[in-house]
Amino acid sequence: MRRIGILTGGGDAPGLNAVIRSVVHTSSNEFNLEVLGLRNGFDGLVEPDMVHVLGRSDVRGILSHGGTILGAANRGNPFARKVIVNGREEIRDMSAQALHNIEHLKLDSLIVVGGDGTLRISKELCDRGAPIIGVPKTIDNDMGGTDQTFGFSTAMRTATEAIDKLHTTAESHHRVMVLELMGRDAGWIALSAGISGGADVILIPEIPFDLQPVIQRCRARAKHGSHFSIMAIAEGALPKGGHQKFKFPANGLQIPRLGGIAQQVADQIHEQANLESRCTVLGHLQRGGTPTPFDRWLATRYGAAAVRLAAAGKHGLMVNLRGRHIGAIPLDEALAETPKRVDPAGDLVTTARGLGIVFGDE
Ligand code: F6P
Repeated sequence: MRRIGILTGGGDAPGLNAVIRSVVHTSSNEFNLEVLGLRNGFDGLVEPDMVHVLGRSDVRGILSHGGTILGAANRGNPFARKVIVNGREEIRDMSAQALHNIEHLKLDSLIVVGGDGTLRISKELCDRGAPIIGVPKTIDNDMGGTDQTFGFSTAMRTATEAIDKLHTTAESHHRVMVLELMGRDAGWIALSAGISGGADVILIPEIPFDLQPVIQRCRARAKHGSHFSIMAIAEGALPKGGHQKFKFPANGLQIPRLGGIAQQVADQIHEQANLESRCTVLGHLQRGGTPTPFDRWLATRYGAAAVRLAAAGKHGLMVNLRGRHIGAIPLDEALAETPKRVDPAGDLVTTARGLGIVFGDE
């Protein structure tokens, strides 16, 4: 019996369990392949005791569950792995161990579900002979080589619902509500949810902003009887001539994380325009919850396509979506187009501008 492995790397995203379920069912029903689940991203490849055979009972009932039954690790790079030696932390290249374990575990293929960081590691392992197939995942939707990653649809729904909820309280209190959304260096979540939720202002990293047009928009709305405004701001948005705002984790590892721009903008609007403003940071709520039907549909199709590639012995590829068609693209081509960012001259931004939404560059 041939055997494939699966791991989920990087930050979690709604739909990961749908991929795992699809891989297990397709492997057994279509190809009689055994599936090994590797726990906690690449950690499970470096430490093969974090591995177990996945059967039907393991994936029963998980289609609608967020998170991943395999666990994830977004700092688990085998090329730069943290190890403790004599009580001290060291960074070691454990890629040889990872490659050895693919053979040791008798994996004919390894399906890696991840975003750009995880898939870049996969590409490096492929270059050293690993039989990897990538599945693009991230709420940020910034993976190149595919129209959409799974996880994005659910994050967009959560963000849109938040905007809907902010509308009612904003209107009641005549306030400017500033909602900070995830997305790293891409503004897909803020832009898409901002359009769907009817935001008045959308600030994204691809269009550095000035506060004056934003204030003008809020004032103009008040003049026309709408004494409140809603702003969707991407965590990576930045002022013209300025920098992105980072917050650092309290654990002292000094790994920069984006965050804080919404509070800054809310404060400045209050100070400069005397408009009462409040900030909401939606944070990891965007990564959780029941995946939307679209994300389940996409994740399920990605999982099945990855198994078919594995069964055909095709590696070094990433499954992708083009229009309604599921196909595959070489990993390096997908990565060359990553991060995929919003086109400031594209249809989404043009549509938003046509609706009167302000981007702060007017
Ligand atoms: O890439 C997904 C994402 O949620 C980003 O939108 C965000 O910047 C980052 O991960 C948060 O990472 P962490 O879970 O490590 O705080």
